[in-house]
Amino acid sequence: MEVDTIELLRKKLTQQDGWQQIGSLTIHFTDACNLRCCYCSYAEQHRSSMIQMETLAEALSHNPIYSCIVGGGEPTLVRSREVDFISLLEQFPFTQSVYMITNGTVMPGGFEKVADRFDFIRLSLDAATPETYRLLKGVDRFNQVLSNIRLYLKTDIRQVGVSFIIQKANLREVPDVIRLLAPIYFEFPGRFFLKFKNLRAATESLTSQKEVDRVYLEVKELRESSALLESFLDLATNSVEIPQLSEGIDSKPPLSERCYYALLYCLVRTNGDIYPCGLMSRKEQHCLGNIRRVSWDVICDRQWTFFEQAGKGCLDCVGCWDEKKNRVLEEILTMGLQPPPSLTRLGAINGLYCRW
Ligand SMILES: C[S@@+](CC[C@H](N)C(=O)[O-])C[C@H]1O[C@@H](n2cnc3c(N)ncnc32)[C@H](O)[C@@H]1O
Ligand code: SF4
Ligand code: SF4
Repeated sequence: MEVDTIELLRKKLTQQDGWQQIGSLTIHFTDACNLRCCYCSYAEQHRSSMIQMETLAEALSHNPIYSCIVGGGEPTLVRSREVDFISLLEQFPFTQSVYMITNGTVMPGGFEKVADRFDFIRLSLDAATPETYRLLKGVDRFNQVLSNIRLYLKTDIRQVGVSFIIQKANLREVPDVIRLLAPIYFEFPGRFFLKFKNLRAATESLTSQKEVDRVYLEVKELRESSALLESFLDLATNSVEIPQLSEGIDSKPPLSERCYYALLYCLVRTNGDIYPCGLMSRKEQHCLGNIRRVSWDVICDRQWTFFEQAGKGCLDCVGCWDEKKNRVLEEILTMGLQPPPSLTRLGAINGLYCRW
């Protein structure tokens, strides 16, 4: 079983023994959600389907190197007659092999029992005040999310992060969120991070480059004003990327010739349908089959056929979410370059390549 994503990619490209292993698995636990984020691009958010244990077991039987738990909704809300969050997490065999993206409003009961499975958890905060939080997410849960950050950090989990999608409504709060969260970094040294992200599929909420540049200047002043803020910003955030986060990517074609990402990646929706990337999971015609009904050989063959068509020149790939990852993969394969830590988040040593 391969533990290095790049080695697995090389195997896949030459279809050597073991090429059908999953590199990076994204699994949707539920489509149900307790928030109504105005910018949420997950069309499924008003459905309430839950994953079944057999669907997760089938996905895990293909030995993903690394997994992401997320949802068309909020993954911590998964609960049906057969499964709950803890019973699902107990199926992941390795420590630190999973990360989760959550809105952070709920910390599942008994979380301590499965904390060691996680590499990290990232809470989507997107605001520095309860007012902006409510404006963006439709519900008043800001203080609860803030207190859950610390509750998660008090478990054995390796790292906890917060994400902040830059958009018109919260742009002016960028310096505030840095001031607000820096103390957490010093309370839990090396275990907390803040990631600024770009907005997709909601062009009316995008900021202008001029506004983002002005806020970035404020961030730089903040950094120079205090040695503590400087170390927080430099060691635990991607604030240097802020100027690039006003960009709308939705109408841009990818630059990479091939899509290596779609060979490594596998997204499994709650009902077991498999897709080759996040953007394609919005396009039913690109479903590779259902993991419960279609043989894995057939799904992998379809993935290969898809790989041969995807990338630069493929109209369906306009607005690719994973363009940067593909460019890094292309560089690694052709020139042997190491990806920058901001792309892999945790650097790139053997099995750590896939930590996106
Ligand atoms: C769909 S959510 C699912 C997990 C959870 N409900 C949450 O909000 O964290 C996964 C991630 O996508 C982000 N997201 C949702 N809509 C987005 C958009 N239009 N552009 C960029 N990111 C988006 C969320 O902020 C979250 O970090
Ligand atoms: S919490 Fe997550 S899934 Fe729910 S509406 Fe917000 S972004 Fe979408
Ligand atoms: S949208 Fe991007 S990640 Fe998805 S198949 Fe196209 S190039 Fe690959």
